[in-house]
Amino acid sequence: MWFSKSDEYRFNLDPVRVPSKYPGKRHFKGDKRGQLSGNPLGKNPTDIWEFVAQEWDQELWDIPNVKANHPEKTLHPCQYPIELVERCVLALTDENDWVLDPYCGVGSALIAGLRHQRRVIGCDKEADYIEIAQDRLRAFYAGTLKIRPLGKPVHQPTGREKVAQIPDEWKENE
Ligand SMILES: C[S@@+](CC[C@H](N)C(=O)[O-])C[C@H]1O[C@@H](n2cnc3c(N)ncnc32)[C@H](O)[C@@H]1O
Repeated sequence: MWFSKSDEYRFNLDPVRVPSKYPGKRHFKGDKRGQLSGNPLGKNPTDIWEFVAQEWDQELWDIPNVKANHPEKTLHPCQYPIELVERCVLALTDENDWVLDPYCGVGSALIAGLRHQRRVIGCDKEADYIEIAQDRLRAFYAGTLKIRPLGKPVHQPTGREKVAQIPDEWKENE
């Protein structure tokens, strides 16, 4: 969810467009008849109500949550993926704008802002999380922080992996 205090707000559409379902669609009447009607960068991601009415599986941002084998995982129990925040940063702010996360945990929003040349402020009531956030910022500046790339497709199991099979112990109880 995003909110603005007035009708004057920043919304950079191009960095967050989603692929068009029919990129080859053309205007069929009027002055533009025959011309491509879409944008080569994709279409507006619209909002959740339209997602439900349309083919939602193509429109929702598919981002894995930060669990055990995620490259960004720390000891924070509800850490956000950096790429989730990156899209909001890109759409709703410009370079050199400020990004404030008053509940920054281990600093995912701060890293997302810094990756895109924004200035950042964060605070959290847990000193342990702030320490990890500081370590992550240092690693970010040193170029050693592991970050899941923005837009990387989510791994889909084929069903043939060993962990995707019903274990023998369970089969015995069938
Ligand atoms: C959902 S977590 C945020 C995780 C963060 N986005 C990240 O990726 O690490 C919410 C955070 O809010 C912090 N928090 C809760 N109440 C707070 C308060 N009153 N002041 C500051 N931080 C608070 C918690 O310690 C927790 O780290």
